[in-house]
Amino acid sequence: MATFYLTTPIYYVNDRPHLGHAYTTIVADAMTRYRRLAGDEVRMLTGTDEHGEKIAQAAAKAGMTPQAMADQNSAAFRETWRALGIQYDDYIRTTEDRHKTVVRAMLQKLWDTGEIYLGTYGGHYCFGCERFYTEKEIVDGKCPDHLRPLEWIEEQNYFFKMSKYQAWLVDYIEHHPDFIRPERYRNEVLGFLRDPLQDLSISRPKTRVEWGIELPFDDKYVTYVWFDALLNYVSALGGPGDERFEKFWPHVQHVTGKDILKPHAIYWPCMLKAAELPLYQHLNVHGYWTLGGHKISKSIGNLVEALALKEKYSNDAFRYFVLREMSFGLDADFSEEGLVGRLNADLANDLGNLVSRATTLIVNCAGGTVPPPHESAAVFAALRGVPSLAQVFEKTRTDVARAMDAFAFHRALAAIWEFVGAVNRYVDSTQPWALAKEPERRAQLDTVLYSLAESLRLLGVALAPFLPDSALKIRQALGQTGDPKLSDATWGGLKAGTPVQKLSGLFPRIDDKKTAPAAAATTKPVGEDPPRITVADFGTIELRVAEVLAAEPVPKSKKLLKLTVDLGTEQRTVVAGIAEHYAPADLDGKKVVIVANLEPAKLMGVESNGMVLAGSADGTLAVLTVDRDLPPGAKVR
Ligand code: MSP
Repeated sequence: MATFYLTTPIYYVNDRPHLGHAYTTIVADAMTRYRRLAGDEVRMLTGTDEHGEKIAQAAAKAGMTPQAMADQNSAAFRETWRALGIQYDDYIRTTEDRHKTVVRAMLQKLWDTGEIYLGTYGGHYCFGCERFYTEKEIVDGKCPDHLRPLEWIEEQNYFFKMSKYQAWLVDYIEHHPDFIRPERYRNEVLGFLRDPLQDLSISRPKTRVEWGIELPFDDKYVTYVWFDALLNYVSALGGPGDERFEKFWPHVQHVTGKDILKPHAIYWPCMLKAAELPLYQHLNVHGYWTLGGHKISKSIGNLVEALALKEKYSNDAFRYFVLREMSFGLDADFSEEGLVGRLNADLANDLGNLVSRATTLIVNCAGGTVPPPHESAAVFAALRGVPSLAQVFEKTRTDVARAMDAFAFHRALAAIWEFVGAVNRYVDSTQPWALAKEPERRAQLDTVLYSLAESLRLLGVALAPFLPDSALKIRQALGQTGDPKLSDATWGGLKAGTPVQKLSGLFPRIDDKKTAPAAAATTKPVGEDPPRITVADFGTIELRVAEVLAAEPVPKSKKLLKLTVDLGTEQRTVVAGIAEHYAPADLDGKKVVIVANLEPAKLMGVESNGMVLAGSADGTLAVLTVDRDLPPGAKVR
């Protein structure tokens, strides 16, 4: 049995819980649920970051003590996770004694081993971020995050000798390619590490900041909030020597947003190394949600409103949207129209209808119990040409496992929806309602109904980490009790005679007229027929299969997406005018067809080297993909 320990960032208690916090926590919850389903021993940690100047200032403004504000907002986070059905195993607060003890022990150890010294520091400080900024990071004299002027502060402080770990850290990251992932963040960190790494000021004089953990070796100082906060991952396990620490720490992975890459990818590994503790396995970094294409500052009420949509549309629909819409690692845009669009198409139409159709057929045509499958040659012959759902599911299972290993939730869901699509097509092509009218075709009907019931049972397991409430309803409709297990998700496990109940309205369709903008017609009236060309003319166009490695919006453009594609022998950037028809996450991993020998062109400042082929009619646009697997770079004629 494998062991798995996953942490979210601990959230600041000066903010209310919002979409950004919820996304990270949902991601961690879906991942731990998946690993638990796979049979691992798992532990998920979340909590709140309660010390520091930012909290003290917010509390003073609200006329509260910092502790009262921390109590109130920490409870608000906990309540949000309860309402969202997050299954965490521990909730740590940095004002708890169990945490303070570990922080003090760590500070003492680093002081005793000469890793910390007293020095003087002057620098540009942002009170919002609670950190000094280097000249290089400052934008027009302002904090790049808060866009507010920085203040010059000079003071005596204690420093952690971080600079001495620079060469070691670069080497470690270079030799552990997925230590920080996805790769773009690993590259970003290696980029930061090209400049000399400064020692880290890890104290704040009490004359300036009082709300923090006092240094064990100098009571005139409290520790810097990041030095305190990062240690939560260790203190929640009781610290080195504790049984829980020994068991789970070797398997720890962190999930964070890209905003806190530096503390997690640089300070934290150096701190662990200095304290002679093992490093984490992976830092999994996701992008930022934007609203209507705008970058949002951390404390905007719209993000709170976005999270409130979970009540309007259900937890499962909200979870599905955020996990499916964001390619893990890249930014994505959140909108109510987008959520309703996916709810109607993927959840109501594809999944909800399938569940309703299949359970109704089994109740109406087989008296509400799963019939036995007949594996006779005649049945197979009659179903000739219909792909085997068992095989499709096997591929889905492997694809989901691969995607989850890489934290690619959007790919895992796309793989499950390929199976949903295959089962829907299976109903259409086998037409069980017609078979039911011909008693001599009973064996075929039974086989089809068995396959449908078995497909739903497998979906009830595979969907459990992503849509926990709906997956439970599906399992219950098929008489499945007890905790689902991935090892049960193999074709043929469903017993004939299992009772089935009708399950309709899993995801009611939403009237999207009020939320969705009118679809633009993309077709133009066709004029004269274009002239005929020769085979030789056609041969001058180089068409190739290209695998989409990453898709992201082009800033300030509604229509364009920037695709990074693999052509087998090279990677290229191709800009495509398809943003109104495809979310970036829809294209990730797709094999499309491109014109590979087109002159390069600049579109909104991005150089495009090729063109993605797509067809359109009546406002619908579809990119061309290959219907069997071909390697990237394969020629298309
Ligand atoms: N307290 C620190 C973290 C310490 S961890 C040892 C902190 N807290 S925070 O409340 O500001 O939370 C930041 C995290 O919230 C981000 O890393 C990300 O996980 C999440 N998000 C906040 N806004 C976000 C978006 N707009 N989009 C996606 N996630 C974002 O930093």
